[in-house]
Amino acid sequence: MKLLVCGGAGFIGSAFVRVRLAAGDEVVVLDKLTYAGRRENLQDLEIEFVHGAIEDPDAVAKAIDGAEAVVNFAAETHVDRSIAEPDAFVRTHALGTYVLLEAIRERRVRYVQVSTDEVYGSIEEGSFTESSPLAPSSPYSATKAGADLLVAGYVHTYGMEACICRGSNNYGPRQYPEKLIPLMVLNALHGDPLPVYGDGMNVRNWIYVDDFARGIGTVLERGVPGEAYNVGGPDEAPNIEVVKRIIELTGADESLIEYVTDRPGHDRRYSLASEKVRALGWEAQVRFADGIGRTVEWYRDNAWWWEPIRSGDYRAYYERHYGRALG
Ligand code: NAD
Ligand code: DAU
Repeated sequence: MKLLVCGGAGFIGSAFVRVRLAAGDEVVVLDKLTYAGRRENLQDLEIEFVHGAIEDPDAVAKAIDGAEAVVNFAAETHVDRSIAEPDAFVRTHALGTYVLLEAIRERRVRYVQVSTDEVYGSIEEGSFTESSPLAPSSPYSATKAGADLLVAGYVHTYGMEACICRGSNNYGPRQYPEKLIPLMVLNALHGDPLPVYGDGMNVRNWIYVDDFARGIGTVLERGVPGEAYNVGGPDEAPNIEVVKRIIELTGADESLIEYVTDRPGHDRRYSLASEKVRALGWEAQVRFADGIGRTVEWYRDNAWWWEPIRSGDYRAYYERHYGRALG
């Protein structure tokens, strides 16, 4: 199948590209190359690359030519950045998704919108199913929920072959170090403080990135048009436990842990019920206990990947956000 992968130069998109190339697909990547998008993530892969934004109809028309399906990963993905500067989140998630939907409406190709558990908001106990109400709590999750609703509206009105795939917290190689796990791994390896928000007891539902990539592939191939599918990880953990495990794996000292001011509107817990995608034949293969070790090892072995980030614009972002410099 010839696939257009939007946002394929990011963390999950590039893992998805790897999975689909191995399955024999032909892949075109359309990516704006924001701070989080990197050509290095697609290094050595045989793909066609189009540099452009999903909100640009000309770039989309060029990239979509001949595609049999479109999978949209393109997004601004960091909750903290959405709180500080929401503009790009609105543009990419609302306008960008609209431009893609118009392009696939004209061409009648299959479409998967990659979404997130955050659209359901926070849950103290139990797990969200696909019929749970959308109750987003940040500019990031509100604009992602808006994109999901736009997809649902196009399916209902125009009868398009589109599905939505909602993932829980991903981790693994090539995740930009602003996110909890790579941030803690790299700070621990450098002896920098480990900034834990609030009381450290917020719970996340962790999924290894290749498992999520395979789940999206399952929805692409076997999902029923118009349906949403949760793809949740097999393990949940409070942040402080994740940080302590990283300390053990890196050999860092617990005294590096520093409790800092909480994120405004911080969701307490996410948890997804994934029976619906399991019924299509998907199952997570990597447990957190194994995946976190592999992830720490990858960052330890691939300084060439993160050194340009830690010595570039990320330093200024870090200083602005945490009020202290990286070591
Ligand atoms: P990422 O930030 O690593 O990558 C995003 C990619 O999208 C980058 O390559 C970036 O350059 C590109 N991009 C951004 N705006 C664009 C635009 N306007 N036009 C074209 N390209 C653009 O993100 P990620 O963690 O790989 O997330 C990918 C998708 O998965 C997102 O839609 C996100 O909401 C969703 N998701 C992420 C997680 C997670 O834990 N990271 C969990 C569930 C769902
Ligand atoms: O749940 C899926 C979502 O997971 C995705 O849709 C988002 O794109 C992705 O960024 C992620 O959102 P989170 O806000 O859960 O991820 P983040 O890595 O930013 O934070 C994870 C938890 O760790 C959260 O409770 C906040 C906390 N945290 C985060 C950072 C960056 C800290 O305690 N300290 C930190 O420095």
